[in-house]
Amino acid sequence: MTKRLLEVADLTKGFVTRGADGRIAQLKALRGVSFTLDRGETLGIVGESGSGKSTLARSVVRLIEPDGGSIRFDGTDARRLSGRERSQFNRRVQMVFQDPYSSLNPRMTVRAALAEAIGVHRLRPPAAVDGRIAELLDLVQLPQEAAERYPRDFSGGQRQRIGIARALAVEPDCLIADEIVSALDLSIQAQIINLLLELQARLDLAILFISHDLRIVRHISHRVGVMYLGEIVETGGAEQVFADPRHPYTQALIAAAPTLDPGRRGRQEAVHGELPSPIDLPAGCSFASRCVHVMERCLTMPPALLSVDRTRAARCYLTENAAPPALREKSP
Ligand SMILES: Nc1ncnc2c1ncn2[C@@H]1O[C@H](COP(=O)(O)OP(=O)(O)OP(=O)(O)O)[C@@H](O)[C@H]1O
Ligand SMILES: [Mg+2]
Repeated sequence: MTKRLLEVADLTKGFVTRGADGRIAQLKALRGVSFTLDRGETLGIVGESGSGKSTLARSVVRLIEPDGGSIRFDGTDARRLSGRERSQFNRRVQMVFQDPYSSLNPRMTVRAALAEAIGVHRLRPPAAVDGRIAELLDLVQLPQEAAERYPRDFSGGQRQRIGIARALAVEPDCLIADEIVSALDLSIQAQIINLLLELQARLDLAILFISHDLRIVRHISHRVGVMYLGEIVETGGAEQVFADPRHPYTQALIAAAPTLDPGRRGRQEAVHGELPSPIDLPAGCSFASRCVHVMERCLTMPPALLSVDRTRAARCYLTENAAPPALREKSP
């Protein structure tokens, strides 16, 4: 069994939409996104609203069809699966949503919802289903009585535990968590995050953890990818990226985050300047219009993802000076 579970390369996705002038236009939501995820590892994805995080999540779980790029899951091409293999992929990669209320059937008890998930993939003989439901409730630390209740009977945090239990019911290898704590109170957020960390350690889960909250991503992730307008602009170990960010966008995000350093209040606005339209992207670096270090070539030629060191890379020309030539990615 290899460690590498998921390998996404050069993923692109455009949406046909109307521009400000009312004309039909192509909106580039993903522009060549690549990342890897190992068993038992958490990759955090951060970025402002509209940077393409959910589009990435939905492409990976095959809820939407990307235009280009490849998704390899456990050695197989996940874009070309059919029949039993497709069903196994759907079982092994589970999405957990921000609002479990909208993904839980209000007329089904927790027991019925979990039994349904177990039944779809025939994971247990009928006689063993109740035992498995008890085990799942234990895993997410809900009382056994929860089985006979309906989604409306629970608080937001408890509902998210049910959402996680339902994802775990099918024994996945990988969770795709898209803003799963964003709607919850701070103290409840911490409980859910700690639960995820515990579950990961017990079940060796790979987690793609998407959030606009840098503090949470730093806490939960082994590695991070910072997204900006459909691209990953910086990637590396979570501690390194947050302690020593190399891309001016990551630097601005961190400088503006009030909660990363409790001794300091966020004074700056998130990132100054206008976010370019994803329909009409600039010719050069997409961050150039907001970047305090902008240089002439940034306006005409987009930088490639350049290696900072063996594990880190940033899509910025400033990185070039810092990296030994052998580590630099060749420009396309
Ligand atoms: N179905 C769609 N049709 C047209 N445009 C879309 C569609 N889905 C997403 N987009 C656009 O694609 C871009 C990326 O959206 P996405 O939802 O992936 O961003 P996000 O990073 O998840 O944002 P948020 O933090 O607000 O959830 C946005 O400009 C969005 O308006
Ligand atoms: Mg989103």
